[in-house]
Amino acid sequence: MSAEVRPRRQRGDTPDTQRPECHPADVRAGLADLAHLGRAPSGGYRRFAWTREDAELRDWFTGEAKARGLDVAADRAGNLVAWWGDPDADGPGVVTGSHLDSVPDGGAFDGPLGVVSAFAALDVLRADGFRPARPLGVACFGDEEGARFGVACAGSRILTGALTAERAAGLADADGVSMAEAVTRAGHAPLGPDPEALGRIGTFVELHVEQGRALADLGRAIAVGTAIHPHGRWRLDLAGRADHAGTTRLVDRDDPMLAFARVVLAARAAAERHGAVATCGKVHVAPNGVNAIPSHVTAWLDARGEDAERVRAVVADVAGEAGAVTEESWTDRTPFDPALAARLSALLDDAPLLPTGAGHDAGVLAAAGVPTAMLYVRNPTGISHSPEEHAEDADCAAGVTALTAVLRELAGAAR
Ligand code: GLV
Ligand code: MN
Ligand code: MN
Repeated sequence: MSAEVRPRRQRGDTPDTQRPECHPADVRAGLADLAHLGRAPSGGYRRFAWTREDAELRDWFTGEAKARGLDVAADRAGNLVAWWGDPDADGPGVVTGSHLDSVPDGGAFDGPLGVVSAFAALDVLRADGFRPARPLGVACFGDEEGARFGVACAGSRILTGALTAERAAGLADADGVSMAEAVTRAGHAPLGPDPEALGRIGTFVELHVEQGRALADLGRAIAVGTAIHPHGRWRLDLAGRADHAGTTRLVDRDDPMLAFARVVLAARAAAERHGAVATCGKVHVAPNGVNAIPSHVTAWLDARGEDAERVRAVVADVAGEAGAVTEESWTDRTPFDPALAARLSALLDDAPLLPTGAGHDAGVLAAAGVPTAMLYVRNPTGISHSPEEHAEDADCAAGVTALTAVLRELAGAAR
């Protein structure tokens, strides 16, 4: 593997007397390189796992790595890491990065900001003549959002074994295409755990746009993560009887849409009662005709909260209304390494320490025992999973500067 990394672009060049730094336009330019990939008419992105768009995003990642002289290693779970240095000879390494897939009509920053910032941080280090004592890796995790097959962080979960290869292979998308089939069609070998690849990650740091307004309220640009709240996804199957919308008397109907409406209201009320959050954001109606009473409604509940008891209480109440719910995924509270978080906060001008209700690959790696940290970049409105998601250029540059300092600290300088 290569020992030298070349800067991809010279946007952040500064006079000799100053340390190179990321300029406010640099990250925007990096994100602009990706802007056309998977763009939806809403202005957001539809970048789903193992699709053509996904392949284009992976090609983009590989191109960015190669342009910098980095070696790209694909693991058995469908994730990519671009290495500066050889993790097998000198590792394990310090890895940073995030994901490039999106939720339906997702924003430009959730995931890509972490990948673009990772490359930008390596550029700054390189321009400063820094030579890391430990190998540095830029990661692109596959299928983080679970938008197509339903399980979030599928790439990192398969890597660590938290999601078995058998269960992953059998997950199906809305058209009935299994993940195994989609992976094969994309030209990848069947997915499975990869302990060797996991062993190359000595420390993982994920930079991410904040998905809330805490930093905006605090007047700070950067935070360090403390933990991910417990969260999960449940499926609800509500059966009824198809019939004619014009001729069936109201008293004769068995309409599952009414049950669904009651479930949505019950979820909201339960979330308020237990101090948690609950969302019904996805629903399939069969046969989905304007003039037919549905025969079946399948809906999904996403519930999260500060502790597992609150979340479980919400789900129990919703199950009471729906009859039953089927758990499709569950993630317990995941703390990040507290000593590492405190160290990075001190390094970054006492950056605030924040927990989050959003799931991340960093959480999966932390649960697998990898020392892990997260950096959040201020989101002025807090809006995320939406085309309106935003971060200011100056805050993105501050994110790269923070990440650069963190990588410098964690990798150490070669003698
Ligand atoms: C991922 O972004 C999630 O929190 O669902
Ligand atoms: Mn997301
Ligand atoms: Mn994300």
